[in-house]
Amino acid sequence: MARIIGILSGKGGVGKTTTVANLGTALASHYKKSVIIVDCNITTSHLSLYLGMYYSPVTLNQVLTGKAKIKDAIYDYHVPGLKVIPASLSLKDLKGVDVSKLSSVIKKLTDEADIVLLDAAPGMGREAMSTMRASDEVLFVSTPFVPSTMDIIKCHQVALEFGTKPLGIMLNMVGKERYELSTDEVKQLAELDVISIVPMDKNVLRSLALKTPVVTYNPSSPASRAFFELAGKLIGEKYIPETFLTRIAKMFRFGRK
Ligand SMILES: Nc1ncnc2c1ncn2[C@@H]1O[C@H](COP(=O)(O)OP(=O)(O)OP(=O)(O)O)[C@@H](O)[C@H]1O
Ligand SMILES: [Mg+2]
Repeated sequence: MARIIGILSGKGGVGKTTTVANLGTALASHYKKSVIIVDCNITTSHLSLYLGMYYSPVTLNQVLTGKAKIKDAIYDYHVPGLKVIPASLSLKDLKGVDVSKLSSVIKKLTDEADIVLLDAAPGMGREAMSTMRASDEVLFVSTPFVPSTMDIIKCHQVALEFGTKPLGIMLNMVGKERYELSTDEVKQLAELDVISIVPMDKNVLRSLALKTPVVTYNPSSPASRAFFELAGKLIGEKYIPETFLTRIAKMFRFGRK
């Protein structure tokens, strides 16, 4: 039975899609989980672009217009264990999409994976709220600034009203500037735990240009380490980074029963 985890924020551009792509990849590649990542940001879908998937014959849009089944919109990604349900990149495919069907559609994935991650639209509109309704648990993404943190307060309230379990905040793009909110200030303002701090890291932008999650592009970069740690935390496992020696040891164990 899959855990269905929504990745939400009130404010846009804080790193939800980046988080979904990287947590999905980390959970599949490092923790050997079967994972499906779903682009629930139908109007401004980006997940497939982040993964270099420019054309998908069946997308979530066709499923939400009743023209296709969800299982026909699942694509294998080249990371074993990771599958993707893209949303259409075409404006014309927005016609007839009924986001109120999202919850029932996502429920059909419960036997298909260990974990389903939902990439939400920003804000508190119908799209984002349908993603919240479809989620059993929700991870909030914020930056260390007042506007994005204040928006988490609203999202948190809605999550509680919907009965969706809040997992806490992932604080993203954290730097060392004095004008940033501290982790404690974010915790106090939002009345939620900060369960992960992902630093501002140019490797994330480099990896985006290469259409590859940063955890694949540069697994030892600061942001990648934070994503691997958060992925482990979500499933109750400690992240032990691969070193040169552990890689060699793995090669020796290969094929051993
Ligand atoms: N830790 C980071 N360090 C540097 N850049 C980052 C980091 N996280 C995300 N970014 C960059 O920030 C931009 C916005 O990220 P992303 O698209 O994931 O946000 P989003 O919350 O999904 O946006 P939207 O609300 O529009 O869906 C992207 O260019 C991404 O590469
Ligand atoms: Mg996004």
